[in-house]
Amino acid sequence: MSIKNFYDAGSVAVIGASRTPGKISNAIVRNLISSGYRGNIYPINPKESEIENLKAYPSVADLPEKVDVAVIAVPAARVLEVAAECGENGVKNLVTITAGFKETGREGLEVEKKLLALCRQYGMRMLGPNCAGMMDTHVPINTSFAMGFPQKGDIAFFSQSGAMMVAILDWSREAGIGLSKVVSLGNKADLSEIDFIEEAADDPYTRVILCYIEDVTDGPRFLDVAGRAARKKPVIIYKSGTSQAGALAASSHTGALAGSDLAYDIAFRQCGVIRARTITDLFDLAVSFARSPAPGGPRVAIVTNSGGPGIIASDNVEARGLTMARFGKETLDALREGLPAEAGIYNPVDVLGDAMDDRYRFALDKVCADPNVDSVVVIVTPTATNKPLETSRAVIEMKEKYPHKGFFGAYIGGSALAEAKEVLNRSGIPCFTFPEPVIASISQMVRYDQYRNSPENQRDLEFEDIDRKAVKAVFYDVLRDNRLVLLGSEASEVARAYGIPAAPVSLAVTPGEAVEEAEKLGYPVVIKVASPKILHKTDVGGVKLGLGSPEEVYNAFLEVMENSQRLMPQAVVYGVEVQKMMPRGAELIIGMTRDVQFGPMIAVGLGGIYVNLIKDVSFRLARGLSRQEIEKMITETRAYTLLRGYRGEKPKDLNALMDAVGRLARLALDFPEITEVDVNPVFAYEEGLSALDVKITISVS
Ligand code: COA
Repeated sequence: MSIKNFYDAGSVAVIGASRTPGKISNAIVRNLISSGYRGNIYPINPKESEIENLKAYPSVADLPEKVDVAVIAVPAARVLEVAAECGENGVKNLVTITAGFKETGREGLEVEKKLLALCRQYGMRMLGPNCAGMMDTHVPINTSFAMGFPQKGDIAFFSQSGAMMVAILDWSREAGIGLSKVVSLGNKADLSEIDFIEEAADDPYTRVILCYIEDVTDGPRFLDVAGRAARKKPVIIYKSGTSQAGALAASSHTGALAGSDLAYDIAFRQCGVIRARTITDLFDLAVSFARSPAPGGPRVAIVTNSGGPGIIASDNVEARGLTMARFGKETLDALREGLPAEAGIYNPVDVLGDAMDDRYRFALDKVCADPNVDSVVVIVTPTATNKPLETSRAVIEMKEKYPHKGFFGAYIGGSALAEAKEVLNRSGIPCFTFPEPVIASISQMVRYDQYRNSPENQRDLEFEDIDRKAVKAVFYDVLRDNRLVLLGSEASEVARAYGIPAAPVSLAVTPGEAVEEAEKLGYPVVIKVASPKILHKTDVGGVKLGLGSPEEVYNAFLEVMENSQRLMPQAVVYGVEVQKMMPRGAELIIGMTRDVQFGPMIAVGLGGIYVNLIKDVSFRLARGLSRQEIEKMITETRAYTLLRGYRGEKPKDLNALMDAVGRLARLALDFPEITEVDVNPVFAYEEGLSALDVKITISVS
C-alpha cells in the first residue's frame, strides 16, 4: 500500500484526543484544524462528546467511515488494544505518537514487536511509535504536535529525532525557508526514511529531500531506493552516531582502516546521496540545491570588493576539489581596460573597496561571458561607498543574461547587507554570509551533477571461471577443524579458486616434507609458520625468506618451529607453509571487511607492513561495484603513482589489479560467511600480480 495515504488522507481519527489544552493529543487536533486540512477529523475520547468544536466518538468502532489515518496518542499501556481496534475497524495507517517502546529497553521492544505484528496482521502501515507526527504543506495536513506549521515550499525533511524536527521547523519559518513535507520517523518500527524518500522522489512538490538519521536499518534497500531517488532529485542526509563496522572487524588491516563510519560514507557516495557533515551544512546545502540549478562544471570565478575574502574563497575552491577558472585573453583585456588600474583582473577579480553596482555589473558581464567559467561567486563587504541593494540587482540582471552559469553570493556583514542578501535569495541566487558554505554548496552540486550524469549502476561483476565448490569445500574443512581463521594454504586455495593470482602455498608438517615441497616449487622458497593463532608471523621469528637449498629449508623448518613454540607456546602450530619466493613488485593491499548494514566493503591501496601507518587505501561497497568504479578507486590512492611507473620504473599491470579487486568483490558477495580478507602484500608486476599473503576469516553461517 502506498504511503501517499498518510499525506492525502481523506479522514483522520485522533485517538486519545483531549479537551485539555497543553496535552499532546489536544495539540494534534488543533494542528489538524489550523493546518487547513480539508478531510474529516474525528477526535476519539470515551468521556467527551465534543472536542475543539468537533464531534467526538467513544472509539474507532463508532466512526461513520473507515479512516485513512489514526493518530494514536493514548498512554503506552493502551496502545496495543487501540491498535487492534483500529485494525478491526479498517484503519489503513497509524501515526503512533506514544513513547515507551524500543527506546526504553527490552520490555518496550517486546511491546513494539507486538504492535508491529498487529500492523502486519491487519495490513496497516505505521509511522512511529515514539514520533512527533507528520505534515504536508501542499495537502495541507498536520498530524503532529509541533508548534506551528511551516511555510509552503519544496524541501521535504525526514527526521529520526522528533526534537530536531520541531526545532528545524521553527527555524525554517524564521529563515524564510519553505518545506513540502516534514516527518518525524520515531522508532521506525515499520516505515523508515527509506519509504519516505521513495515517496518524495516522485512527489511533484518536492525538489530536495533532507534527512536527519541515526542509522539505516536495511542497507541494501536503502542503497536501491536512495540511489534511484538521487537520480531524480538531491537527497541530502545528516547521519549522526557511528556504525558497528569497526567493532566487527578489528582484527584485519582492512577492518582497522575502515574505521567506524566509513560504510555510511561510501554507501552514501555510491548511491549519490549527499552527506552533510553538520546540521548547518544540511540546511545550507538544502537552500542551495532548492534555489539554484547545478553549475555546469567545477570552474569557479570570484568577483569581490576586497582582497582577503577573495583569498579565503580561493583557498576553499581548491580544498573542495573545484578549480579557479582561468580567464581567456579576451576577458582579461576587457577587465584590464574597464576596471581601475589597481583592480585585480585575474581570478579572483578584485573590483576594489570603492566599487559600486556598476563596476560589479561590468566585471560580472565580462567574467560570465567567458566560456571557461561555470559559476561565479559574488563577494560583497559593506564599505561606505558600496550600494549592496543595487549590486544585488546587478547580479540578478547578469543571471538573467547568463542563465546557464551558476550564481552565488557571499555577503560578508550584518544588518547593512541583510536586505541585499534577501533580495538575492528570493530571486533564486543562494546567498550566504561567508564564502565557506557557498563553495561547499558548489562543490556538492557539481559532484551531484556528475552522479546524475554517470551511467546507471551496472550489475555486479560476473566471472565465468570461478570455482564456488572448491571454496565451499575449504570452508567445510576449516569449520570441521573448529576454526574460523584459514591457514595460508587454505586461503591461497580460496583466492585461486576465484582467479586471484595467489602464489601457491603448501603445508608441510615435517622438515622432510618441507624439503619435498620446496623441490616441487623450485628454489628459492619462503617458509612461514602455519598457525591460525599467530597473525604476525615475522614478530615471532616465524618467517624465513630466500631459502636456496634443501639444507637451508630443513634447518629453517626447525628454527621456525622452535621460535614459535618458545615465543607463543600456547598457539597450536600445524607445521610450516612453503611458498615460492616471488620477485619484488609494487607492494599493494587488497582486502574486504563486512559492514552490518551495507555488506562487504572492498579496499585497495599501498600494501606492506606500514599499511595502517600510511593509510593509503580506498574503499567501495562490493555491491554494484563496476569496473569503472574499481579504476576510480585505484586512481584515488597514492599507490596509483607507483602503478603508473614511479621514477622511471615501467608501469605495472593495472588491468590485472582491477581484475583481482573485482574477483575479491565477487567472492565476498558469493560467500556471506567470509567476514574479513586481507591480501597483503600483493606484488604488482609489469605483467600480472602475485598475492603473497592471503588471510581469510569466516563466521559460522
Ligand atoms: N481511547 C480513547 N481515548 C483514551 C483511551 C482510549 N482507549 N485511553 C485513554 N484515553 C484518553 C484519556 O482519557 C485522555 O483524555 P482526557 O484528557 O479527556 O482524560 C487522553 O486519552 C490522553 O490520555 P492521558 O492519560 O491524559 O495521556 P497524556 O495525554 O498525558 O499522554 C501520550 C499520552 C501519548 C502523549 C504520552 O503517553 C506519551 O507517550 N508522551 C510522549 C510522546 C512523545 O514524546 N513522543 C515522541 C516525540 S518525538
